[in-house]
Amino acid sequence: MPKPTRKADFSLLVLYLIFTCSLFISTSSKSTSYNVLDFGAKPDGRTDCTNAFLSAWKSACGSAKPAGIHVPQGRFLIGRAVTFRGQCANHAISMTIRGTIVAPSQYTFAGNALHWLTFDQVTGLSIHGGVLDAQGSFLWNCKFKATTNCPIGAATLGFTNSEHISVTGLTSLNSQLFHILINGCHNVKMHGVKLMADGNSPNTDGIHVQFSTDVTILKPRIRTGDDCISVGPGTINLWIEDVACGPGHGISIGSLGWNLNEAGVKNVTVIKATFSKTQNGFRIKSWGRPSRGFAQGVHFENATMTDVQNPILIDQNYCPFRNGCPNQASGVKISDVSYKDIHGTSATQIAIKFDCSSQQPCERITLEDVKLTYKNHTPQALCNHAGGSTFGIVQPQSCF
Ligand SMILES: *[C@@H]1O[C@H](CO)[C@@H](O)[C@H](O)[C@H]1NC(C)=O
Ligand SMILES: *[C@@H]1O[C@H](CO)[C@@H](O)[C@H](O)[C@H]1NC(C)=O
Repeated sequence: MPKPTRKADFSLLVLYLIFTCSLFISTSSKSTSYNVLDFGAKPDGRTDCTNAFLSAWKSACGSAKPAGIHVPQGRFLIGRAVTFRGQCANHAISMTIRGTIVAPSQYTFAGNALHWLTFDQVTGLSIHGGVLDAQGSFLWNCKFKATTNCPIGAATLGFTNSEHISVTGLTSLNSQLFHILINGCHNVKMHGVKLMADGNSPNTDGIHVQFSTDVTILKPRIRTGDDCISVGPGTINLWIEDVACGPGHGISIGSLGWNLNEAGVKNVTVIKATFSKTQNGFRIKSWGRPSRGFAQGVHFENATMTDVQNPILIDQNYCPFRNGCPNQASGVKISDVSYKDIHGTSATQIAIKFDCSSQQPCERITLEDVKLTYKNHTPQALCNHAGGSTFGIVQPQSCF
């Protein structure tokens, strides 16, 4: 009796070995990995590794097979603005970063470039881990001294005209301007990014999305000086889930409507967010100017606000410095916006403000199960040209 069983065991073992060997061979022949050290990068934080990174990218991008780029531990200086450009010979480049990529302390390093690190026209890229340190404080300090003429600065990481991009577990420290910019992209997934800059740092938005479709942002942790996430014209199908924001200016759609012929924003969902001591919670803003732009189908759900100055805000009379917009109505149409399960504390008396356009009143706003307090009292809601309805308990009572 035992003999046939052993035989069966043995043939199973042989089958198993053949199977795992072939798996091993097929995976090892499937992708090629390029280590930036092999292209001359030095992990010392002083040697400029720009050309080494560009050469590694060239090899990975030129590879007919899926390719990996490996950045080991250590500090790698990238001394100027660089663009990693497609189209590539393969559609599966995986970049694993164990160390830190650091910018020079000289704040003019990016010249007039929009971003320090750009991926342009790339199809199929995943980035895992890594710390990007743009050393932005040198530029902020210049900007704080109003007397000096400072450059605008560069966003840390830009994805432009690209598709099928995934970014997991990346950290960005002290960006000069925005941390991450997604512009003209399709199908971008960000998971667990950490973005940090001083709460007073100028224009350090966390993630800005514009002219892009199907963007998903999961579990970002953002402490910065401007909007945690900002959404510009031409954003369609954006999903944001489980955000921690603060310090920062909250999650903002806008500013919209600077241009007359502007692409609209459609189908934006934000689910599960915590805001701590932020300037805003959920904000939609548009310039007081003629425009054909719009924001349609926006869903905010499940937020906890702690000491937020403007927990729920629509501002269609945005006109800082009264420059190019005073006494004009915004042409941006805002419709189908819902707020559901929003709780916590407002740092000001007016917790809900819908200041819509006299020319394009807000339509179909809904508030459902919203409970906000101000110094343990009921705060106020303020409406101009806003129409909508409420469900469940809404405090402050709505002003529709
Ligand atoms: C809205 O966007 C989500 C992804 O964020 C998508 O799953 C859904 O299908 C979109 N809805 C419409 C009507 O396009
Ligand atoms: C909202 O939050 C509550 C409590 O944290 C949770 O039970 C619920 O599943 C959340 N809803 C969504 C849509 O995430």
